[in-house]
Amino acid sequence: MQVRTLKTPAGTFRLLVDAYQDDLLRDEDRTSVFARMVYDWADGADFADLGAGTGPLSVVAANAGARRVVAVERHPKRARLLEKNLRKHAPKEVSWEVVKADARSVEIDADVVVCEMIDTLLLEEDFVDVINAVLEQYRPRVLPPRVWIGRRPLSDPPRVPRYAPTEVRGAECLEVIRTDRKIPKSFEYETPGTGYEFLTWVEYEGRVAGGSEVFCPGLRVRTPGRGVRGERGEGLASLEHV
Ligand SMILES: C[S@@+](CC[C@H](N)C(=O)[O-])C[C@H]1O[C@@H](n2cnc3c(N)ncnc32)[C@H](O)[C@@H]1O
Repeated sequence: MQVRTLKTPAGTFRLLVDAYQDDLLRDEDRTSVFARMVYDWADGADFADLGAGTGPLSVVAANAGARRVVAVERHPKRARLLEKNLRKHAPKEVSWEVVKADARSVEIDADVVVCEMIDTLLLEEDFVDVINAVLEQYRPRVLPPRVWIGRRPLSDPPRVPRYAPTEVRGAECLEVIRTDRKIPKSFEYETPGTGYEFLTWVEYEGRVAGGSEVFCPGLRVRTPGRGVRGERGEGLASLEHV
């Protein structure tokens, strides 16, 4: 267990973190984009943080005027640290609760939901399943409102798919995924070149996050066919050439 200082528009907090959460918080672009969104939308809200980790976004929401914060985290050790962080940092008038559960199956009614389970092409993590499960139950504002998918041609594609940190700016945008409606599980992109780096990023108020070692590194793939397709949330193994 370590301590990391988090500076946000809602205040500065010393948070208990594990190594994974520490790496995530070191990505300042990622953290500042999400902290800003939460700060802008939490005031007066019944707020849910799905995949809360050790709680940076829940702590921001609690200090940005949320009336109630429900933080869902399935990893037991992170959920314990999350609870300690909220106990220390949530103002007394804010009611909060930590739910140790899979966010795909919890029943929560909230006005605003943040979910940072975003990975490259939305392939490996549960983002799409979680958002779709939420939208089947109720209609909150979902943060982030949009996720960008893009690509850049590669002259020397690797033999097998490979993740690597990269710059997302200047990429060709393939799709903008909106989170206010059901997100399709399947995707298919045409690949007229022999290899591409696929990119995923989040933009908010002029800030851009993506392409870092810990948040949506580029996915470099050979593209011998006319396209690639895959299933969001079903992992890299679902990626195939068409
Ligand atoms: C990328 S971290 C984000 C942590 C924190 N919200 C932040 O922005 O720094 C995603 C977190 O979601 C949790 N998680 C992943 N899938 C989950 C699921 N299906 N249900 C609940 N938690 C999940 C992971 O254990 C991890 O702590």
